[in-house]
This record gives sequence, structure tokens and C-alpha cells, in this order.
Amino acid sequence: MAMVSTYCPQFTGLRRSCSKLETSSPQSFSQHVTSHLRLFSSNKPSRSVVAMASNNKFFVGGNWKCNGTKDSISKLVSDLNSAKLEADVDVVVSPPFVYIDQVKSSLTDRIEISAQNSWVGKGGAFTGEISVEQLKDLGCKWVILGHSERRHVIGEDDQFIGKKAAYALSEGLGVIACIGEKLEEREAGKTFDVCFKQLKAFADAVPSWENIVIAYEPVWAIGTGKVATPLQAQEVHAAVRDWLKTNVSADVASATRIIYGGSVNGGNSAELAKQEDIDGFLVGGASLKGPEFATIVNSVTSKKVAA
Ligand code: PGA
Repeated sequence: MAMVSTYCPQFTGLRRSCSKLETSSPQSFSQHVTSHLRLFSSNKPSRSVVAMASNNKFFVGGNWKCNGTKDSISKLVSDLNSAKLEADVDVVVSPPFVYIDQVKSSLTDRIEISAQNSWVGKGGAFTGEISVEQLKDLGCKWVILGHSERRHVIGEDDQFIGKKAAYALSEGLGVIACIGEKLEEREAGKTFDVCFKQLKAFADAVPSWENIVIAYEPVWAIGTGKVATPLQAQEVHAAVRDWLKTNVSADVASATRIIYGGSVNGGNSAELAKQEDIDGFLVGGASLKGPEFATIVNSVTSKKVAA
């Protein structure tokens, strides 16, 4: 079983340093990775192993946001249906609500469906909202909550998002729980403070982390073409995993996927995926192109090294 990351690089550009980890015995990155190698797939002729801090499967989600028409979505679904996807990856797409039924009835079962939002409790007299029960009725398995566009454009706060997560989980939906700092917060050295505060709001609300994937999505990287460097992403992912270890449990820190989002594309996903604490991606713009999304899903191969 993979262990919790203790690798803590210099936190370039982030004021708070990882003192707990810095005081632990120094270990080179290669030693660290070697000690965390694990079997990736035992049913292939030449066995490969993967260096990944989480002991769970690589996870890639496509967030289609408020994009698409019946026609463009039908083309995207057909491209996804014909794409060759690596077996060892959980793949999820998140269409706009109004197209979920169309996607569910035409998309391969290999790919699960997520909603982009859900109501905070049981459905009823809540004009314009969509309930978790309705999402389940359509075959959704996941919901994205706490996305920066809902936090900063729509104005949802930590507590409201936490309540939504708790309700969705209680009804059996998986939650893609998004966190991330704005540019001015990063520049002010508050990246960890912001991410930990958002994480704590989830932690305070949810009874279990079993069905949660954390998406670290720096706001400055979303839809801007300014992807975080692999090191920038890795240092926050490692800190988030350490936060889970300290504040929830070592088991949850190992089992929880921490995926990266923000200008991920077919050209940068392989380098990002090599980082030990990057367990997958949440992809916006590039998920609207089937072949490019497949390339991102298949970037899991860059995590594998020969046994
Ligand atoms: P982007 O969006 O890939 O277009 O930057 C990511 C997201 O918002 O999840």
C-alpha cells in the first residue's frame, strides 16, 4: 500500500513552509518515489508499477461547464465512445444539466457522469435548482461542488458548499470537492491558508471521505491558459495530503485522490501526471475535444515506470 507523502520540496512562491515535513529526516526524491512504487496492473504481460502517493486509481474528470448544443454534444460523445482509454483510470464527464439525459443514453458505460452542481437538500419548492435525487434518477454518480466559478461568480460560501457535499454524499453521490486560491491570495503568500480553510469546511461537514475526490484548482489557472507548473501543483497537493493526514487520518490521506485542474491540456498533462501527489485531473476547455481529453486520461502512462 502506498504511504503518505513525506516529500516536501522548497515551496517556491509560497510563504508558509512545510515545517513538519522539513524537520523529518531528509530523503531524496528518487528514494521517496522508489519507496512508494506499487504494482499498477498485474494482468499485463510486462508488469509496470506506478509512483503515486494515493493508493487509489488515477481519476480524470471533464467539466463541460455551460457549453454545448445537442449536436456538438452528440459529436463529443461519439468521439469519446471511440477513444481508446487506459484501463486503470476512473473517467467522468460533467455535461450541463439539460444534456445529462442525452449523454447518459448515448455515452459508453466506461465513462461515468457527474453533475456540475446540486441543491443543498431534498428537492421541493426551490425554483431553478436541481436535486440530488433527480441527478441520481438520471444516472449521475458524481457532482462537482465548490468550483471556483460557483464560489466567486455565483457567491457560494464554504458552509453552503460543505452542506451540499454532506447531502450529496448522504444520498450516495460521489463529490468532486474543489478548492483553490486566487492570484492575489497566492501573491500574498496565502495559498495554503485558503486551501486549508476550504478543506476544513468540507471536513467539518462530511461524515466520511470515502466518496470524495479533491480537485485543487488555482483560480488564476482556470480557463486562462496559465497552467500551474508541475512543482507548483505538487507542492500544494503534498500539503493537502499532509493536511488530511494531520486533520482526518493517514488512511484518508492515502486513499483520497487529489486531482489538479486549471488549463490542463493534451500537451501539459503528462508532465503534471508525473508528480507523485497528482492523482488525476479536472479538465475544462480541453475536455470539449474528445481526442484531447483521451490524451489527458491516458497521461496516466507517464506515471508508470518499468518494473
Ligand atoms: P480549464 O477549467 O481546464 O478550462 O482551465 C478547469 C476547471 O474549471 O475545472
